Amino acid sequence: MSLLDVIFNRASVRRYTPEPVSEEALNNILEAGRRAPSAMNAQPWHFIVVTEQKLRDQLSKRRWTGFVKDAPLVVIGCGKKHDHLSTVDVAIALQNMVLAAEAQGLGSCWIGDFDQKELKRMFRIPDNLTVIAMVAFGHPAEKPASRNKKSLEEIVHHNRF
Ligand SMILES: Cc1cc2nc3c(=O)[nH]c(=O)nc-3n(C[C@H](O)[C@H](O)[C@H](O)COP(=O)(O)O)c2cc1C
Repeated sequence: MSLLDVIFNRASVRRYTPEPVSEEALNNILEAGRRAPSAMNAQPWHFIVVTEQKLRDQLSKRRWTGFVKDAPLVVIGCGKKHDHLSTVDVAIALQNMVLAAEAQGLGSCWIGDFDQKELKRMFRIPDNLTVIAMVAFGHPAEKPASRNKKSLEEIVHHNRF
């Protein structure tokens, strides 16, 4: 698959088979995050790899996270508090992971529905860091239809807005 195929074929997956993500696939996912660009090469990120069922059960209790209990792997992306560029950096790293997963035949879904305080307590995240987002990964048990996307005409502006 070409990189463009990977990008164009990706769609959020919310149903997974019970098969765990192999160590090799996980390493590639994490490596893709590690190699992401960051402002001034600050690499402000920390990633928590969550595989324990009890932890995933807890993460799945929110309105938009029910599927997380059946996703064998969740990566929590942490960055610096109150730091816009750090937030951008962590988001880039997480999306690199999403694409690395897709390239290996794995599915993924970003998760923005979480309680910051709860996660910091649950995962013992240091006070100077904040959770930017999470991504669930696993072997897809569905082939989601691609979502409606705005046209280029609606979102692209040439030279001036
Ligand atoms: C920052 C962010 C947070 C998201 N949070 C959730 C979430 O909590 N639960 C969920 O089911 N999907 C979540 N999504 C997935 C979006 O719903 C999905 O990307 C969007 O509907 C477009 O669909 P697609 O990913 O298949 O292109 C999130 C996506 C992003 C980028």
